Amino acid sequence: MSLKIAIVGSGNVASFFAKKFAAAGFTIVSIHSKNLAHAESLASEVQAIASNTLSTIGSDFDYLLFAVSDDALKACVAEVPASNNFCWLHTSGAMSKEIFAEKTNQYGVFYPLQTFTKSVSLSQSVFPVLIESSSEEIQQALEKLAAQIQLPFQYADSDQRKNIHLAAVFACNFSNHLFQIASQILAEQNLPFELLLPLIQETVAKLNHLSPSAAQTGPAIRNDQAVLATQLALLQSHPKWAELYQLLSAEIQKPKQ
Ligand SMILES: NC(=O)c1ccc[n+]([C@@H]2O[C@H](COP(=O)([O-])OP(=O)(O)OC[C@H]3O[C@@H](n4cnc5c(N)ncnc54)[C@H](OP(=O)(O)O)[C@@H]3O)[C@@H](O)[C@H]2O)c1
Repeated sequence: MSLKIAIVGSGNVASFFAKKFAAAGFTIVSIHSKNLAHAESLASEVQAIASNTLSTIGSDFDYLLFAVSDDALKACVAEVPASNNFCWLHTSGAMSKEIFAEKTNQYGVFYPLQTFTKSVSLSQSVFPVLIESSSEEIQQALEKLAAQIQLPFQYADSDQRKNIHLAAVFACNFSNHLFQIASQILAEQNLPFELLLPLIQETVAKLNHLSPSAAQTGPAIRNDQAVLATQLALLQSHPKWAELYQLLSAEIQKPKQ
């Protein structure tokens, strides 16, 4: 008998896991989302029932996976009737596992350390899932769950996970925002962002061989004062970017601990 999963959310992470578990032979029982049309769209891809309510979700499944915005998680959990018949999981880097404690004694966290955007397939299909659980038995079930979708797992308690999530925000979200600024600087000169793609890809590829500190290049690490002053002047019409430029350059020049 295949394992059964109900999923709350229909966004980036919910879409990834719904398709991944379906491909691994799990039954996706239902997709629940605030906007019914969003639930229906994902549900149709994994032959599941769609719903925009949680109070009548039932309990005929092995896992209930919440992949919703962090701010909505508490309210979503509150709507589901208490039950020990299935394991409650969320996918957040920032939220404690104890968010489930008033509802059940079967719970955990299944946090994928990857960036997902539902319109794009992953180019890196192997990444760790950080797991945390309410018991040894659930821990073993989650290890098996990760293995069933061919993902390595790593144990991280809520404090470790929060810090790993913070590191991920710097490494992924802030880097991406800097790409956005770079894209606007080029657009103002009628140049395409694609010009930078080989540079960006090499910047990341180098990290397979060097620490970020050893891989740093550019005017700040060389302390090329004239270039630093010229680039700052080019940012005159973007004072916030100029602030960022100065802050980041100073951080790069600080002696490493
Ligand atoms: N994206 C990533 O790269 C990534 C990576 C690792 C972990 N995570 C974590 O995974 C979780 C989901 O992130 P995401 O990027 O998938 O978010 P997302 O794409 O913005 O999707 C959020 C989902 O939450 C649903 N939602 C919001 N309020 C709801 C409510 N009251 N009831 C039911 N559903 C509700 C939305 O439903 P509607 O569309 O119907 O409004 C939407 O489907 C977050 O905890 C995030 O930290 C994300």
